[in-house]
Amino acid sequence: MNNSITSATYIRNLSYSVRRKLSDFLDSQDNWKDVIVSIRKPSGDLRYSQHHVRRFEGLVAQGKSPTVELLADWGTTNCTVGDLVDILKSHKLLAAANVLLPVADDIPSESQQVSSAAGTYSTLPTMVLEAAETQPAPPAQPATTVLQTQILPDSSDTSHTGFSSFLYNELMRITGNFDDRPVSDGGSRLGEGGFGTVYQGLLDARPVAVKKLNPIDDVPLEELRVQFNQEIQILQTLSHENLVDMVGFSCDGQYPCLVYALMANGSLLNRLACMQGTPPLSWRQRCSIAEGTARGLDYLHNNHHVHRDIKSANILLDEQFVAKISDFGLTRASAKRTSTTVMTERIMGTSAYMAPEALRGEITPKSDIFSFGVVLLEILSGLPPADENREPQLLMEARYDIEDEEEELTLEDFLDKKMGALDMGQVQSVYSLACNCLEDRKNRRPVSKQVLLELQGVVKNISLD
Ligand SMILES: Nc1ncnc2c1ncn2[C@@H]1O[C@H](COP(=O)(O)OP(=O)(O)OP(=O)(O)O)[C@@H](O)[C@H]1O
Ligand SMILES: [Mg+2]
Repeated sequence: MNNSITSATYIRNLSYSVRRKLSDFLDSQDNWKDVIVSIRKPSGDLRYSQHHVRRFEGLVAQGKSPTVELLADWGTTNCTVGDLVDILKSHKLLAAANVLLPVADDIPSESQQVSSAAGTYSTLPTMVLEAAETQPAPPAQPATTVLQTQILPDSSDTSHTGFSSFLYNELMRITGNFDDRPVSDGGSRLGEGGFGTVYQGLLDARPVAVKKLNPIDDVPLEELRVQFNQEIQILQTLSHENLVDMVGFSCDGQYPCLVYALMANGSLLNRLACMQGTPPLSWRQRCSIAEGTARGLDYLHNNHHVHRDIKSANILLDEQFVAKISDFGLTRASAKRTSTTVMTERIMGTSAYMAPEALRGEITPKSDIFSFGVVLLEILSGLPPADENREPQLLMEARYDIEDEEEELTLEDFLDKKMGALDMGQVQSVYSLACNCLEDRKNRRPVSKQVLLELQGVVKNISLD
């Protein structure tokens, strides 16, 4: 939410960064279409016809954001933020509305805190607004039931997703009070990222990973709330065997939590590093993981979704080592933070995957392809994407040394010696694909379908062997 914006602000005066934030919510799942068909002229007639909608659809194919283009077009009239927020609220696009206005400010203050244990984390403003508008909840109703109804765009539609709302206390119980000791030391902690800590637990005999959102570094709480909403909205509609399954969420406690299926083999980053003494991944496993990731990425891109944080820590492996891409909604803040000059270790870690145009703030599926190119180099070399004590520090730059005849590094030297038997023809194909993905100019990079086809070819080849 931006404090300088009021409902009287003209749409044409919204900054580019606000338009981009709106596009985060409205481009995915074609939510912008709900908006466009609700826009009316002062006469009351609809401003845009189906023909217009198709023209905006065509912009998606050109890699443009339909939301940004729509706002630019509509913004040529005297439409205001108030007009847009009314439309967003009518379609329950509350997270998007919250980018513009504090949509919860007009409701009684006591309903803004729902059984927050320490009172440090108020509930999501967007959800509470809905509670006030549609169905003032009877006092006896458990807070989580109310919140679940509010947080999901269409509460009647939760059955197909199987999402559940959990009590914070229940998540505390199954994670041993969020036991911060690593799992290997008898605790519950699986790992830590930019938005919180991940714990393992058992929910009715089902192994789950609980991500407790907790601002580390400089992510404001307000931003986390938006991320939380976004993650749930996005995961609700996207489902694929190469995307991590979300089980549910909790928002009645001190910290909001997201609950996912536990991925028994952890992250690709950790398995390449053989953390906790796990055996090295074979060449066959690596190729199948690359192919699965490409399939998940192709699905995301076909659904007009740019992930923006493709990296080996976000590629999780189930018990069969099937690749599952994680973290769809929690990516925007990290993308923003990488463009700052603060070079913490974490930010440096993420920027090691970023395409030149992504560093400048441009959002395009081709930036995911670039990041995937870095993942392919990790798979080939077993090396982390960035290492201060190495030359070159960034793995993506190793390709210059391999290509440079005067440098001593060859592709054979670069390969992870722990892989065991492999076919150099297949290695060459994967390396060439990585280099194509890492082209500085995005138009020269392949699209996800081409990446997938290439990797399917390699995997087929391995099976024939
Ligand atoms: N569903 C899961 N199953 C098993 N382990 C998981 C799961 N989700 C996360 N993890 C582990 O927890 C670690 C931390 O995850 P988290 O997403 O918080 O951080 P990250 O991926 O390193 O960085 P970012 O915050 O940018 O996503 C992961 O690297 C992974 O090892
Ligand atoms: Mg992650």
